[in-house]
Amino acid sequence: MTDADPPPPPTPPLHAQTRAIRAGRGGDDTSLAPVLWSTTTFRTPTVADAQHMATSIGAPRFYSRYGNPTVAGFEEAIADLEGAEAARAFSSGMGAVSAVVLGLCSAGDHIVAQRQLYAGTQLLFQAACPRFGIDVTFVDGTEPGAFEAAVRPGKTVLVWAESPANPKLDVIDLAALGAITGPMTVVDSTFATPVIQQPLSYGVDLVVHSATKGIGGHNDASLGVVAGSRELLDWLWGFAVLQGANASPFDALNGLRGVRTLAVRVRQQSESAQRLAEALEQRPEVIEVRFPGLASHPQRALVEKQMSLPGGLLSFELGGGFDAGRTFVESVRIAQHAPSLGGPETLVTHPASTTHVNLTPEELERNGISPGTVRVSVGLEHPDDLLADFAQALAATTA
Ligand SMILES: Cc1ncc(COP(=O)(O)O)c(C=O)c1O
Repeated sequence: MTDADPPPPPTPPLHAQTRAIRAGRGGDDTSLAPVLWSTTTFRTPTVADAQHMATSIGAPRFYSRYGNPTVAGFEEAIADLEGAEAARAFSSGMGAVSAVVLGLCSAGDHIVAQRQLYAGTQLLFQAACPRFGIDVTFVDGTEPGAFEAAVRPGKTVLVWAESPANPKLDVIDLAALGAITGPMTVVDSTFATPVIQQPLSYGVDLVVHSATKGIGGHNDASLGVVAGSRELLDWLWGFAVLQGANASPFDALNGLRGVRTLAVRVRQQSESAQRLAEALEQRPEVIEVRFPGLASHPQRALVEKQMSLPGGLLSFELGGGFDAGRTFVESVRIAQHAPSLGGPETLVTHPASTTHVNLTPEELERNGISPGTVRVSVGLEHPDDLLADFAQALAATTA
C-alpha cells in the first residue's frame, strides 16, 4: 500500500453467533470438534515448572481442580460471548452462585438481593448466609431504586439480581443496576443466555449462569459459569480451588457443544414461546400469562430496551388453583413434567409443588407465585404440536 492508497475499509466486528462457532477452541490443534482432556493431573517436566504452575492463577495443565484445557476452552467461549475479560466454570449453577457469594463476602458483610429469585439462590441467602454472619436484605427488584435504597454504604458488598427472574419472568433494569456505586453488582442471566443480553455491557460487575440450562442446552451437562473482570475472576479462582466445585471436563465439552448452537436454539425457542404465550392468553382456563414477548408484560418497555429476544421461558396462572396446576403438568403428552429449562425438550413445572415447595404461602405470594402457577421451558418441538398438546392439557384441568 502506498501513501496515495485509500485506507482499507474497517473490518466489521463479527457477530456473536459467528464467534461462538470457534470461541474457546484455541487449544484444540486441528480437531474441528472440541477436545476432551479427561485427565485430573498433568506431568510437569521440572520442579521449577511445577512450582510455577502451583503458584499461577488458573494454570490449565497442572491439576484439573485448578484448571483444565477443555474447561478453559468453555470459560474462554463464555467470556467472549459475555464481553468479559475472564470466566470460571463450576460443577453447577449453584457452584457458581455460592462461589461468588462465599468467595466475595465475609462475616459482618451485607448483601442486597432481589426477592424474585431461583429458590436455591434464595435459600442460600436465607438459610446459609446468616450462619456465616452475612446479612441479606431482600427487595422487590422490579421497583425502581429499590436495590440502591437498600445499600448500606461501607457494609454492602454485593447487590444480587436475576433477570429474567424465576419463575414469573420479572425483568431487572440492568442499566440502573450497573450504575450502583460501592458494592459489586451481579446478575444471574441464566434465563437470557448471552444471546439475549450481556449484563456486563451495562456496568454490572459479574454475570452468572447455570450453564446446565440454555448454554449447555441438551440436559446432559451440569455446569455453572461466572464472567467478569480479570481482577475479580482471579480473586474468585483463589476461593474456587478451595471450594472444589470445579467443572468436569466432560460437562465443559458438552457446554462447548451447546455454545455453538446456542443462537439458533434461543431464536427458535423464543419464536415457539411467543406463539404459545399468545395462544395461552386466549384460553378461558388461564387467568394470567407472563412472557417477556407479550404486550401485556408489565415491564414491556424495559424488555424492548435490554433483551434482543424474549427467550423460551414463560409462566401462566390457572384459575383452577393447585389442583389445576397439578392436573396440567400430569396431562401434557409432548411437553414433559421435569425441573430444569433451556433444553430441546419442552418442560413444564408446577412451582408450588416442586421448585418452591419449601416456601410458606406468604413467601410464595411475595414471590408472585400462586398455587395455580405453571412454568414452561419451551423446547425445539414443532410449535403446532406444542399448541395442540397444551390445548388438551388445559381442557383436562376443567374436565
Ligand atoms: C436462574 C437459576 N440460577 C441458578 C440455578 C442453579 O443451577 P444448577 O441447577 O445448575 O445448580 C438455576 C436452576 O434452576 C436457575 O434457574
